[in-house]
Amino acid sequence: MLEKIDNIVKNFESDLSNTKALKALEDIRIKYLSRNGLVSELFEQLKSASKEEKPALGKALNALRNNIQQKFDDLKVALEENASKDSAKIDLTLPGREKAIGSRHLITQTLDEIKHIFKGMGFSIAEGPELESDFNNFTALNFAPDHPARDMQDTFFVSDDFLLRTHTSPVQIRVLQKGKLPVRSIMPGRVFRNEAVSARSHCIFHQVEGLYVDKDVTFAELKGTLISFARQFYGNDLSYRFRPSYFPFTEPSAEMDITCYLCKGKGCRICKYSGWLEVLGCGMVDPNVLKNVNIDPEEYTGYAFGMGIERTALLKNGINDIRVFVENDFRFLKQF
Ligand code: PHE
Repeated sequence: MLEKIDNIVKNFESDLSNTKALKALEDIRIKYLSRNGLVSELFEQLKSASKEEKPALGKALNALRNNIQQKFDDLKVALEENASKDSAKIDLTLPGREKAIGSRHLITQTLDEIKHIFKGMGFSIAEGPELESDFNNFTALNFAPDHPARDMQDTFFVSDDFLLRTHTSPVQIRVLQKGKLPVRSIMPGRVFRNEAVSARSHCIFHQVEGLYVDKDVTFAELKGTLISFARQFYGNDLSYRFRPSYFPFTEPSAEMDITCYLCKGKGCRICKYSGWLEVLGCGMVDPNVLKNVNIDPEEYTGYAFGMGIERTALLKNGINDIRVFVENDFRFLKQF
């Protein structure tokens, strides 16, 4: 019997030293310590031992059981600790995977800001198609038949009578043709010009048109509206000036300049050392335009203005190349 005990201890110890996983450890428990295990079997045999032998054998068996149980428990604790270290390789404190939500394009943001300001001054928003008739883009706007803008060099013609609009002014015609007066609208949209692409100009860009037609509209109202817009958009402390200009569809016409944002009027490369930056074209709606849409210029007058959005966004954000707006370079886009 004592020999058997010795054997069991030896076998147990060698089994245990080969055990690296909790699952194998469970097999050992079943083999030695379960109800039908080797240790229980010896206790069973103890019953048939002689009276004299029993106390010593019993003591030896108890020691065996305690010894095995202790070693088993120790290894179990050690293996469990290891296992939990393994699972700790998943570091729950790591930051999560970020979802790139993106942001609105700078052109959209600029458009939204301009829309917001004009809405606040009572303007509604109208839109027209990018593919226009020659009539709406030129003829109705009082462009003479031989006006240079009608040249293929400047305009993308799709057919003899249709083209990609070169400005948002044809939307003026569309709005006025509806015949509901007064009209007080801004008209944002994309426009196209057959120009070489460079840092300063692009063949695709955006404009916002403005139109107010009613009885007794004056040039003073035009100036007041645009000055109010410029103050809200560029800042309260800006200086501005209106220079006489020419557009076929406005008479008189003007261009509005603001103080150069970079040099504050001292003169720099951006403003070509003039201290001024041109921000928009404007004027009183030419009577011929009103006649072209069957409105009596003796009864109604109006003003119109138009500004380039890329140019505006460029000036406001100190960007020096117009091409970045269409290149979709993430490094540029995510700054805004
Ligand atoms: N359509 C003109 C342009 O593209 C801008 C403009 C609009 C000027 C309305 C006067 C009135 O340059």
